[in-house]
Parts: sequence; C-alpha cells; structure tokens
Amino acid sequence: PNPGTFANAIDTDYSRSELRDRSVRALEKVRAQLGKTYQPLIAGEYVTTETTKNSLDPSDTSAVIGIVGQISVAQADRAVAAAKAAFPQWRRTPARERAAIIRKAGDLMEVRRAELTAWVCLEAGKILPQADAEVSEAIDFCRYYADEMERLNAGHQFDIAGETNRLHYQPCGVAAVISPWNFPIAIATGMTVAALVAGNCTLLKPAAPTAVIAAKIAEILVEAGVPPGVFQFVPGRGATAGDRLVQHPDVHLIAFTGSREVGCEIYAKAARVQPGQRHLKRVIAEMGGKNALIVDEGADLDQAVAGVVTSAFGYSGQKCSACSRAIVMAPVYDTFCERLVEATRSLAVGRADLPGTAVGPVIDAAARDRIRDYIAKGKQAATLALEMTAPAGGYYVGPTIFTDVAPDATIAQEEIFGPVLAVLRAADFDDALAIANGTDYALAGGIYSRTPDHLKRAAEELEVGNCYINRGITGAIVSRQPFGGFKMSGMGSKAGGPDYLLQFLEPRVVTENI
Ligand code: NAD
Ligand code: ALA
Repeated sequence: PNPGTFANAIDTDYSRSELRDRSVRALEKVRAQLGKTYQPLIAGEYVTTETTKNSLDPSDTSAVIGIVGQISVAQADRAVAAAKAAFPQWRRTPARERAAIIRKAGDLMEVRRAELTAWVCLEAGKILPQADAEVSEAIDFCRYYADEMERLNAGHQFDIAGETNRLHYQPCGVAAVISPWNFPIAIATGMTVAALVAGNCTLLKPAAPTAVIAAKIAEILVEAGVPPGVFQFVPGRGATAGDRLVQHPDVHLIAFTGSREVGCEIYAKAARVQPGQRHLKRVIAEMGGKNALIVDEGADLDQAVAGVVTSAFGYSGQKCSACSRAIVMAPVYDTFCERLVEATRSLAVGRADLPGTAVGPVIDAAARDRIRDYIAKGKQAATLALEMTAPAGGYYVGPTIFTDVAPDATIAQEEIFGPVLAVLRAADFDDALAIANGTDYALAGGIYSRTPDHLKRAAEELEVGNCYINRGITGAIVSRQPFGGFKMSGMGSKAGGPDYLLQFLEPRVVTENI
C-alpha cells in the first residue's frame, strides 16, 4: 500500500441510539458469561493446568470475569517444542496466505466488535468509547501488518550485468509475545499478529489481569485459520512461565511490552546464550514513560486544559502515553492550575460500564496501593491541589493533582501509572524543555503554544518517540502515528509503522553469477 492510503477501522459512533443499544446488549451478553474457565491452548489442544487464576472486574471486585489456567514451566517447554515443530510448515506458507489469515482475524474482530469492547470494559475497567477505540486499533494492526508483510515480501533486487542479487526476508523462528494489561486487546493482538504474519510460530503470554481478553484473541486466531502449534495461548505467571519462555534456547524472538523493570530484566536474560542455543535472541521491549505536556505563555488555555485533563486522566492515567507532568510557564502558571483543577473536578469517577463515567478504576489492588503510596510521597514534597474521592466497591483512586512540584521530586521522575498529575513551573522556554527532557524516559510528549519558535524547538528537541503539538498526547493511530519510544522507554521500532515488521524477520541475500 502507498503510505497514507491505509483505511483505519472506524470507531463506534455512540451518538447513534442503535449502536448504544447494541453495546448495552453486548454488555448483558458478556455479563451472562462471566466466571467461565479459560484454558491454555498448546499444540492445538486446550489443556488443563495445576493452577488457575481468577480475573476480577476492577470496577466491582465481587465479579469474577473468568478463571484462567496457568501453564507450568513444563507446559511452557511443551509449547515451545510444538512451535518449533510447526515452524517448517508455517515458514513455507506463502506470505499472502499468512496475510489472508491475519486479515480474517481482523474481520472477525470487526464482527465481534461490541462483544470484545464489552470484555475490555469489564475486565480492564476501560470506559466503552476507549475500549471500542482499542478494538479498532487491534483490527488495524491485523490489516496493517498483513499489508506490510505483502509489501516486504517483494524483497529487493540489486542486479548488475552478469550477476543477480536478491534480498528477501525470512521469519526468525519461535516468538514469545509477553503483553501488558493496559491495552489488552490492541497491544496483545498487535505483537502477536506481527510475529505470525512474518512467519514466526508465536506464543502469547498475556498479563494476568486481562487474560480472558487474550483468550478471546486466541479464539479468533484459531477461527481465522492459524494452524495448531503456529499460535499458542500460554497464560501463566510472568516470573515462572514468562521467564522460561525468555530463557528457552529454542525461542528466537521476544516481543515484550510492559514495565521498565521487567523489560530490563528480559533484555539482560535474553542476551545470555543458553546451552543448546544456536542463535542470538532478538528483544523488542516497549516500556514506560514519564510523559510531559509543555504549556507556554501564549497557549490557548482552553485547549491546553482540555488536552492535559484527557491525557492525564483518561483510563485513570494508565496509558503508557499518559501525561503525568504538565510543565507550565510562569506567566500562566496560576491561571492554568486554577482552571485545570476546576476541569478535573467535573470528571465523574466510577464504574467503567456506566455511560457517564469519565474515569474508571485502576487495574488491581497492587496498582491502587502503589498509586496511594505515590500520593503520600507527593503530599510530603509538593502542594496538593486536588484529591478527588474514590468510590467503594472497586479499585478506585480519585484524580489527584500536585502543584509546585520540583523537577527532581519522585512524583516528577517515576512512572506512577495512575490518575496523578504533577504540575511544574518553568521560568522560561529553555527551562521548560530541560525539565521535560530531564527524566530517563522518552515515550510521548507535547506542547501547547502559538509561538512558532517554541513549536519548532519542541518538535526538534523534545526527547520523545511521539511528539504532539497543540493536542493531547494519547491515542496514537496505526499507520498515522506509529508509536514507541527510546531512552528507558524502549528499544523497538514503532508499532503500527513501516519499520515494525522488520524486527520479526531475518534479511537474506542470494547472489547468482549468470
Ligand atoms: P509488567 O512489566 O508488570 O508486565 C508485562 C508482562 O510481563 C506481563 O505479561 C507479565 O506477566 C510479564 N512478566 C512479568 N514478570 C516477568 C518476567 N520476570 N519474565 C517474563 N515476563 C514477565 O507491565 P504491566 O503492568 O502489564 O504494564 C504496564 C507497563 O507497561 C507500564 O510501565 C507502561 O508504561 C508499559 N507500557 C508500555 C507501552 C509502550 O508502547 N511503550 C505500552 C503499554 C504499556
Ligand atoms: N498507543 C497508545 C497511545 O498512543 C499507547 O495512547
């Protein structure tokens, strides 16, 4: 496809009553299925496990979304062996056939959109429009990577008189996909279908809090026609089953998205060559962020306040792209803070499946407690400008804003991954850029300004993988805003962009003297 011609899936228009009704029916249908058991899929069979884990609704922890079988280390080994056995046939399957299967998976997701949206809403605690946008992103990943594989499959020809030179791409082998809970359908699907369409046999190890959604992805890939052993669904504990996949000598490629701590550990472990291993492992690691929005003295404050509120508190600040720092120039600092607090105060906090909710729960008790600890630290080091009350019944944390935050304060440096925003004062624009760049991370960030020189400098100097100008900093769209960071935010090429699939492929050159 030509750049710019990719047709993104269209989000549900909830202003249409028939589509709202459809989503209400889907939620009812999904609620009627809560509490079922989901087993791992190994070598084409659903298998029993010694242990299981309950996945809860973070909006209402009395509801069990599903019970998910946890693979053992021995089952991880069986799955890798099955993947290895399936590889010769899958690598020989023509790229266009692989692409057709992955496109079909995207089509099946479109057919099941309302139901998948309901699962994301209930299991991840994400409000419906954002869950729906995530389903769109998952569909886009299927279609975009299918197109991309067909484009790359043409290879390159570098001939001269008497000699042909053909560069082509071949799959790497066995891929382990280790996914996070915060984009449970989009990111798990994206990494998995990229690996599969490139011809790798792929094991999906999802994050425990959203393993039921991953089971739905597995159902869809099987229905789309991915053969047994080529795709396997291997839920299990990160520290045991996940670790085994990372260290297994027959795994070639690890596609990980998650925390900095785990990403760094995986990177180090994968670098060590294990007995029997005859290759170096590739690691794609997409990690955290400490994303900032700069607001300068000439910014349109209506736009800036709205953009900061949406970016900071959407999905309770649990997007890797979330704005956790607003860096505001001194002349507008007080006005901005006042308006920011008022705008945030109007957000409704509550169950993710209620239509009026703007801010749902956080994912689990550990996340809630960690965020509360950061709020306590913030109270020691900065001014508490707003702490909204949290409802009972689920894992709720009210949106919280700190002002007068020093650039080196813990809440200005560490990824909190919750609805907590630090507002920092910048003396001038150089200071604003220095504060923005003064963390270990480089994921997303942006600026609200009407000063051409500031816009130009932000575009050039902000150390972020995705720089947004005069808009919010979340919600990257496949093929339009390829997404990913650098520094301690990661080392993969951008998801949903033209370089992404190359990471799942080995280039080869065949030279023939003619
Ligand atoms: P996490 O690191 O806790 O878990 C991610 C995955 O790693 C899970 O499947 C988990 O089971 C697995 N895991 C845990 N320990 C492991 C080990 N020792 N070996 C192998 N696997 C192991 O992250 P999370 O809480 O699921 O996700 C939130 C984090 O993800 C945040 O830091 C966020 O910024 C980041 N994130 C980044 C991006 C991006 O594109 N850069 C996108 C989404 C999320
Ligand atoms: N791709 C997601 C976003 O941009 C993380 O918000």
